[in-house]
Amino acid sequence: MHPKMSHPVRSGPLPDEYPGAYCIDAQEEEAVLRILRSRSLYRYYGCDPQGEVSRFEQEFAAYIGVRHAVAVTSGTAALHVALGALGIGPGQEVIVPAFLWISVAAAVVNLGAIPVLADIDESFCLTADSVRRVLSSRTAAIIAVHMSGAPADIVPLVALAREANVFLVEDCAQCMGGSVHGQSVGSFGHIATFSFQVNKNISCGEGGAVVTNDQALHQRLIAIHDIGLGRDATGRVLLDNESSWSWGRGYRMDELRAAILRVQLRKLPGTLAHLRTSKQRILQTLHSLPQLAFRRHADPAGDTGSFLITVLPSDHAARAIHQRLCWHNINVPSGNGNVLLSEYGLHIYSNIPVLTHQIAVDRRLFPWRIVENAGTSQKYCYGTCPYADGLFSRSLLLAVPCGLTLQDEQDIIAAFSDSVSFI
Ligand SMILES: Cc1ncc(COP(=O)(O)O)c(C=O)c1O
Repeated sequence: MHPKMSHPVRSGPLPDEYPGAYCIDAQEEEAVLRILRSRSLYRYYGCDPQGEVSRFEQEFAAYIGVRHAVAVTSGTAALHVALGALGIGPGQEVIVPAFLWISVAAAVVNLGAIPVLADIDESFCLTADSVRRVLSSRTAAIIAVHMSGAPADIVPLVALAREANVFLVEDCAQCMGGSVHGQSVGSFGHIATFSFQVNKNISCGEGGAVVTNDQALHQRLIAIHDIGLGRDATGRVLLDNESSWSWGRGYRMDELRAAILRVQLRKLPGTLAHLRTSKQRILQTLHSLPQLAFRRHADPAGDTGSFLITVLPSDHAARAIHQRLCWHNINVPSGNGNVLLSEYGLHIYSNIPVLTHQIAVDRRLFPWRIVENAGTSQKYCYGTCPYADGLFSRSLLLAVPCGLTLQDEQDIIAAFSDSVSFI
């Protein structure tokens, strides 16, 4: 055993963890100024329309490898629009993972359907087995969330969704640029959602997108994210396209954000290369520490590299290592870069008070107590997903900032090597 260190390996935190925001430079500035100078900030018309949102949608769809993309105002909006386009509503159940983000459950509840929790395994995502255990005759969709930078084991979920005849939605908010066997996340399910909020691999502050290969769904997405009516490729409203008629939510993206995102998308390969290289170099050494185990990856090459999840033999070991890593200043300036998973806020189902208390959307106690949802499965308190509960308490999440230097990586390795002697 190595002697314990008497001084922290670092005197200050690691670099900021925001990958997209980290690489903002003169290119984004120029893009924003170009739109401001055009005085055309709205996507469908203006003084001198630049078509940035439409171009971003085309470039984004091409990047993911799908036919259609619709840019929206956030990842939460994207989920809302996606489920709306699939016709999700009262009387239906939507399967969501125990490890998620509050917005995933919110989208289901806001539409009047019931979220049903499924357990996770060491992939930290849904598995076909865990989903199969909670499928019911009311299941309308499965939301596979590609959590913490890495893809879910999506291929078996595609097969299960087909077999069960339910929709598969991929939430790729945390995994922009991830892939499984060379195929991008977001291209496996019927529909997929993305977020461009500031924590994400590409960012415009707030933004999102929905993608699909299905033309009818695309028209419904256009209608729902906008004014409830379809539009043609030039943006002209289609008054008589009845199959896409809906009620609009006004989640359109603006030209400024799209201009930023077009630049960010071009930078993504460089961002991912940095993240992946740093994570690989760190992992190479950490693999030699027998006390540590790591998240399972369906395809390690498709991990975006933005997070490192370490699994310890016990809760006690996880707490001891976490404490010692903090002492070594292994954290990002926001303080959210080195967390015990059980304390990872609204990513953990049992930490979401509005879910565990089944807070209603309106005074009829919609959707929990409406007649259409009588007899649905409604359990969200700690213990509902016991495997996840155990994993959360034994696991640590470390953000891998894309600005890590070789010295920063060495510091992380040194801090882990010292910390394992505390368990
Ligand atoms: C998995 C997941 N889904 C959805 C969202 C919602 O995205 P937004 O914050 O852009 O609304 C997030 C945001 O962090 C997320 O992590």
